Amino acid sequence: KRVAILLSGGGSNMVALAQSMTGDHPARPVLVMANSADAGGLDKARAMGIEADFIDHRPFKGDRAAFEDALHERLLLAKPDIICLAGFMRVLTEGFVRRWQGRMLNIHPSLLPKYRGLHTHARVLEAGDAQHGCTVHEVTPELDEGPILGQAIVPVKADDTPETLAARVLVMEHLLYPAVLRRFAAGDRTLVRLP
Ligand code: GRF
Repeated sequence: KRVAILLSGGGSNMVALAQSMTGDHPARPVLVMANSADAGGLDKARAMGIEADFIDHRPFKGDRAAFEDALHERLLLAKPDIICLAGFMRVLTEGFVRRWQGRMLNIHPSLLPKYRGLHTHARVLEAGDAQHGCTVHEVTPELDEGPILGQAIVPVKADDTPETLAARVLVMEHLLYPAVLRRFAAGDRTLVRLP
């Protein structure tokens, strides 16, 4: 299976995914795409020998569809079977999602369906939850809504800040996403639960 990874930032999830796709793994990374030239993940991908490209979303201003058409065309060149959103911070419209639905995954830093959207770590602390974590799900047109493929749980500690909590969750993201992708690429949708 050919996997394209979309990112906006440092790409630590992309690195974890790419490093997992070796040996008898049914998938290989074929493209890393960012929505800006200065996404740190692009250089990390290049250093790993993975084709890396970007389409800056800003020139498209509010024309999401035009940005997504450009993104779609570029993706088609790589002929991906699966798309992994990994810290990709652009909301994708229904049109784009429908073209890839069933073949596109996302990782979200909360135990969905709780805390869809942004600032999940601060919201968990605000709510006083004892547990937090991350979720890998299939992407559907509704934000952070699709079928859940895996979750990882971490404890919330009394002295946690959003940063310390985010760091604890990120460690689990790097375990969860590769575990889910390995199954998904093999056509196995059995739920992954960590630890
Ligand atoms: C992470 O905090 C993750 O929860 C979210 O995107 C952020 C950046 O991830 N999905 P990465 O280091 O760019 O993979």
